[in-house]
Amino acid sequence: MIIGIPGEIMPGEARVAAIPDTVKKYVADGAKVLIEKGAGVGSFYPDEDYVAAGAQVIKSAEELFEKADLILKVKEPLFNTKFNKHEVEMMHQGQFLITFIHPASPVNHDMVRMLAEKGVVSLTLDSVPRISRAQNMDALTSMSTCAGYKGILLAANAMAKFIPPMFTAVGSIQPAKALVIGVGVGGLQALATSKRLGAITYAMDIRPAAMEHAMSLGAKVIDPAVPADLAIAKGGYAKDLPAEWIEKERQKLREVLKEMDIVFLSALVPGKIAPILITEEMVKEMKNGSVIVDISIDQGGNCAITPPGTTEVKHGVTVIGIKNIPGLLPTSSTWMFANNVYNLVNYLMKDDKIELDMNDEIARSILVTTNNKIVHEGTLEAMNK
Ligand code: NAI
Repeated sequence: MIIGIPGEIMPGEARVAAIPDTVKKYVADGAKVLIEKGAGVGSFYPDEDYVAAGAQVIKSAEELFEKADLILKVKEPLFNTKFNKHEVEMMHQGQFLITFIHPASPVNHDMVRMLAEKGVVSLTLDSVPRISRAQNMDALTSMSTCAGYKGILLAANAMAKFIPPMFTAVGSIQPAKALVIGVGVGGLQALATSKRLGAITYAMDIRPAAMEHAMSLGAKVIDPAVPADLAIAKGGYAKDLPAEWIEKERQKLREVLKEMDIVFLSALVPGKIAPILITEEMVKEMKNGSVIVDISIDQGGNCAITPPGTTEVKHGVTVIGIKNIPGLLPTSSTWMFANNVYNLVNYLMKDDKIELDMNDEIARSILVTTNNKIVHEGTLEAMNK
């Protein structure tokens, strides 16, 4: 098995799909690893370390795509301006691809069709099921952990005030108040990070289990009191709330928001667009100098006026809509990502070959294209809408 690790070509993407430690493991498992020159530089893993781990450095991405049986990437295949070719065009029949494909997202539908036409067996990391035996392969969870931590640091940096209480010769300063809405993986990490920085923390979620987790981290819970049958779906996930309940939630939030210095937004129902929980009117009523970090921006955002991909001050509030927050923590996010991918490859590999057992929930959930067909349920559903 030849594993190819190309450099990422999305502008500003510093991560890479393998680190020297995981290369060493692939090699020990019997694989040959090719890595594009400089692929790890953005996350501070130099070529020499990959070579020492047993990889071969390849100058041309095109050559790497041609030689590899399995391509490991971070982001979905994109158009490569250097070669004037789409990355999918450089791939071949029967080649495996493991990356975040986000195949259900309409912007990626044409690329997914290209993967099918090319005969690539593509597997998407955003569909790894959140079950215990898949935990160490769940790159989405790892990236949410990074976004929760770094998102709060971005807020702290954008704030014009101290976060912890300060007792100075000229008087004492009250601690900042931070509210996290949507206490999943990212939200929990955001709560823990704000607490460590000295903020008084508040949390809101519609699942009682999430509110319990928040409380155990010392947060005060604002319970929107959504009836369990409306809030929780099969498997314990949150449900898409009916419009009247979203409105009730907004009313509950309205007064609380006026008190907050940091509002961290990470409310999401898997596979849906993010619910809008904060309207422009509500932002207008917030304190001058407060900060909103909306990490659900890839799914549209939880705040109606979050600027996609950037930061803007609106009505005296700094609204952060940066999309690739894990990329701002490239060494740690790459370390986590590379280990998740290694665990997945190791799980799928039998006798130096990837074997996909369609009776297995993990393999079935992540498979996007095979035998020149698109087989991913969420993608087919989104394409037929
Ligand atoms: P998760 O699924 O673990 O958590 C989402 C939480 O939102 C759940 O606890 C759910 O109960 C809650 N929720 C759903 N509807 C709600 C409502 N109406 N009111 C309050 N809470 C509600 O998701 P995770 O992994 O924490 O990710 C959260 C978001 O962050 C996602 O949109 C994800 O794509 C995004 N993300 C963004 C990154 C970035 O760089 N901007 C990086 C990583 C993740």
